[in-house]
Amino acid sequence: MSKITGDAFNVGLLKRVFQYVKPYRRIFIWSVVLTILLALVAPVRPFLIKYTLDHYILKGQYNGLLMMTVVMLLLLVLQSAIQYSHTLYTNILGQSAIRDLRINVFNHITTLRLKYFDKTPIGQLITRTVSDLETISDIFSEGLIVIIGDILQVIAIICVMFYADWSLTLMVLLPMPLLIIATSIFQRSIKSAFQEIRTEVSNLNTYLQEHITGISIIQYFAREEQEYRKFKKINKRYRDANIRSNWYYSIFFPVVEIISAMCLGLLVWYGAKSILSKPLDVTPGTIAEFILYIGMLFKPIRELADKFNTLQMGMVGAERVFKVLDTDEKTVNNGTYAPAKIEGNIEFSHVWFAYNDDKYVLKNLNFTVKAGQTVAMVGATGAGKSSTINILNRFYDIQKGDIKVDGVNIEAYELGYLRKSIGTVLQDVFLFSDTIFNNITLNNPDITMDEVVEAAEKVGAHDFIERLPGGYQYNVMERGATLSAGQAQLISFIRALVYNPSILVLDEATSSVDTETEMLIQSAIDKLMHGRTSIVIAHRLSTIQKADQIIVLDKGEIMERGSHQELLKLDGYYKRLYDLQFHSEGIAK
Ligand SMILES: Nc1ncnc2c1ncn2[C@@H]1O[C@H](COP(=O)(O)OP(=O)(O)OP(=O)(O)O)[C@@H](O)[C@H]1O
Ligand SMILES: [Mg+2]
Repeated sequence: MSKITGDAFNVGLLKRVFQYVKPYRRIFIWSVVLTILLALVAPVRPFLIKYTLDHYILKGQYNGLLMMTVVMLLLLVLQSAIQYSHTLYTNILGQSAIRDLRINVFNHITTLRLKYFDKTPIGQLITRTVSDLETISDIFSEGLIVIIGDILQVIAIICVMFYADWSLTLMVLLPMPLLIIATSIFQRSIKSAFQEIRTEVSNLNTYLQEHITGISIIQYFAREEQEYRKFKKINKRYRDANIRSNWYYSIFFPVVEIISAMCLGLLVWYGAKSILSKPLDVTPGTIAEFILYIGMLFKPIRELADKFNTLQMGMVGAERVFKVLDTDEKTVNNGTYAPAKIEGNIEFSHVWFAYNDDKYVLKNLNFTVKAGQTVAMVGATGAGKSSTINILNRFYDIQKGDIKVDGVNIEAYELGYLRKSIGTVLQDVFLFSDTIFNNITLNNPDITMDEVVEAAEKVGAHDFIERLPGGYQYNVMERGATLSAGQAQLISFIRALVYNPSILVLDEATSSVDTETEMLIQSAIDKLMHGRTSIVIAHRLSTIQKADQIIVLDKGEIMERGSHQELLKLDGYYKRLYDLQFHSEGIAK
């Protein structure tokens, strides 16, 4: 994270941000035109005032004064109209650009491989796609374009001042170098404060996201007090970072005021002296004009530092967002093989797999599953059962060996095709906060209501879904909170069934359910496995007994394999596991 500098002068980065403006070229051009207009119109009013003072007021010409007042009023209306359109256009520009960028970022995130998410906190990704991205829009609405406008305005005013009276201008601008020095010091200090703020926002989001997700654990164990204290600490760091940045402002603004007062002082002293010594050269109108100009000069300069920081903050955000966009952690998808139908022969040969480095969690795995058969995997927790199915659909890639489906290496398959052909029911059911119907079809328009109902009837879930208010349109709250564990599982079975996969991979949940649901689930699993190759990580004796082959895993290695009866006869690891887990049921048999 320390590598992120968000340098406002990083031209490459700025160019990349501006790529997102391209579709809105016309709005951009309008914004720039309006910016230039604003800068040019600004110095006109003081000039009119000077003219009115010298030519009409001091000479007592009432009609002239009246005309000039009307002109000034019209000018004010024009200026307001330009200002209005300017604000509108730059905001539309910024918001449109970041909308596109945000879609890009989300699309990109969804294609990243699971390994990336293993090490990236969700809260961090949320910060990137929401608040970091928001700061980028300010590059357009408050940053770059406005900065260009301010600089133009300063240049325009200084030119007009020189034109009006060059020696007076030189005298008045004498304290300017002081201002430049102060600005650059301020600029540098505030940059680090801003980086700190962004980091703390990310920390805050990560903490909140995790703790709200895990709220039930916090409440079960009555850890509210401790979590509250931890949260307070993170909050304090965020507050301190903000205060630090504001502290720099609180020093900077008075310094600018002092320098501005020095300019005015010089103006009054030198101007008055000039009027007294050579009244024809300097008029009271010029002094009045200059007073207004100094005010107009300092406003953009003071704001320039502020805008520059907005730009800086946007650049910090841009750098972070682009870092996510540049993450190339994707599952390599070079395969093109996509046959009309997969038979479902699976072959693992000499498969070695590690999540990290060479800490192998699967060691030299060899087994085959014939089309239509069922393999049950059993083993202690952490033995590598879930890992085995994670590598079959290439959620993770293996280090050594081959996995073949119908005699073809899984890497030769088109990735999407491979994953669609393998129906996976994970250990933990995840439901989105959406309707039951959408949770089953996952918004696939090819799946019809009839198919969903048919699948639901097959797994025996239709009745309970019908009883929910709204039936299939019942809205499941986030993570399926409003359904029981068993019901959620049945939904995940329907989900697998409607996709009609050739191969079924099922990680049986260990959570226990009531007897009725248990029976529903057992028969649903039978229906699911029927007619397809299945690999089931089994915790239920009934599933295990029905399997054609049982593979016993221990610490990533196959210890034993065979049918239920064969393994019992072997009187080895499986027998011990069986006695431990299903003792009572075993006696009953
Ligand atoms: N995403 C991951 N990153 C790194 N290591 C992991 C990851 N997932 C699992 N592991 C490790 O791999 C090993 C095997 O885990 P796996 O999930 O395959 O076990 P399992 O047999 O499914 O256990 P359980 O019955 O508890 O589900 C464990 O030691 C675990 O710590
Ligand atoms: Mg598991």
